Amino acid sequence: MTATRGLEGVVATTSSISSIIDDTLTYVGYNIDDLTENASFEEVIYLLWHLELPTKEQLQELKEQLAENMELPQEVLDSFKTYPLDKVHPMAVLRTAVSALGIFDEDAEVMDKEANYKKAIRLQAKMPAIVAAFARIRNGLEPIAPRKDLGFAANFMYMIKGEEPDEVEVEAMDKALILHADHELNASTFTARVCVATLSDIYSGITAAIGALKGPLHGGANEQVMKMLTEIGSADNAESYVKDKLEKKEKIMGFGHRVYRKGDPRAKHLKEMSKRLTEITGEPEWYNISIKVEEVFTSEKPLPPNVDFYSASVYHSLGFDHDLFTPIFAVSRTSGWLAHILEQYENNRLIRPRAEYTGPGMRSYIPLDKRK
Ligand code: CMC
Repeated sequence: MTATRGLEGVVATTSSISSIIDDTLTYVGYNIDDLTENASFEEVIYLLWHLELPTKEQLQELKEQLAENMELPQEVLDSFKTYPLDKVHPMAVLRTAVSALGIFDEDAEVMDKEANYKKAIRLQAKMPAIVAAFARIRNGLEPIAPRKDLGFAANFMYMIKGEEPDEVEVEAMDKALILHADHELNASTFTARVCVATLSDIYSGITAAIGALKGPLHGGANEQVMKMLTEIGSADNAESYVKDKLEKKEKIMGFGHRVYRKGDPRAKHLKEMSKRLTEITGEPEWYNISIKVEEVFTSEKPLPPNVDFYSASVYHSLGFDHDLFTPIFAVSRTSGWLAHILEQYENNRLIRPRAEYTGPGMRSYIPLDKRK
């Protein structure tokens, strides 16, 4: 048995949800370029869960179900106030809150298709509410109840900021949510599938996935990108910063990808949005630093920017605290995680690979008093 490090190139399951072929990403056969241009995030959620785009009535029904299920149990909200608010990372809060939601959902352990779909709606609806409520509570503000007349993206922003976002902001948020919704068998989606393939419940699957997304090699990269842009401070400093990092053999966050070679097809949309939004906010330096970093880095290493690179300046321009970037990613990716979890339940088999053993050969037990 020979191990494949990081399971690179291993095809671990079949799936009808998203595909990456020749650096093109599709959701159930629709190119993400097409969806980003034309669809809403709610349409994409429906597509991922039902494998077809919704009719007007189906879309309306889903929107209503999401709006109706956004409110959080009081116990979960109250628990936030017991956390070390000035220190805790919002991804740790999200991970904990999703786990707690499972405790308060009376259907948590019911495993039939209907109950699982209901739980998917509840979870998708509550994810933005968790992120928003925590963002407010840690700033000494009261959480804001969702509004039934707002769509998913608008509600998310409204619940965080307390004011209705304008059209440009909603459009940008919607596009960002669409672009992050699913990505074949990425690390967190695989984690979710491994978890529920033991026939564990949906809340456990999403909790596990959040843990995997949190790391800086995966979803956590977007926050690290913003940290880097802030450290660089001006486009003039980008070249020396990047070269210095590479000399020290450190990674530049937001570049490289396990699957894409020519480029991440999501990055160009975020790059365009970054240019537009930073102009609108009067902070073009974030885009200017970013393009300089891209220019210098890619002239040193043939690794194009991934989804996380330009999403940093996009989320900054939309006014989000930098440690909320990865939770925003999680809110979107929940749609994909749930699609994969439902698909896994439909055609389940335990996921249990092998390890190539590299430890010592067979040896005899040494009694405690004889050990050195
Ligand atoms: N900066 C500098 N060098 C890099 C980078 C980078 N961002 N990415 C890869 N490399 C180098 C790496 O050092 C290695 O070089 P060498 O062969 O000389 O040791 C080579 O490229 C292969 O890298 P790897 O880490 O073995 O590649 P991987 O397929 O295991 O990892 C990756 C893919 C995305 C984890 C990696 O490119 C990386 O760490 N990027 C930075 C973190 C990041 O942006 N993550 C977000 C990923 S995309 C969206 C998401 O999942 O959230």
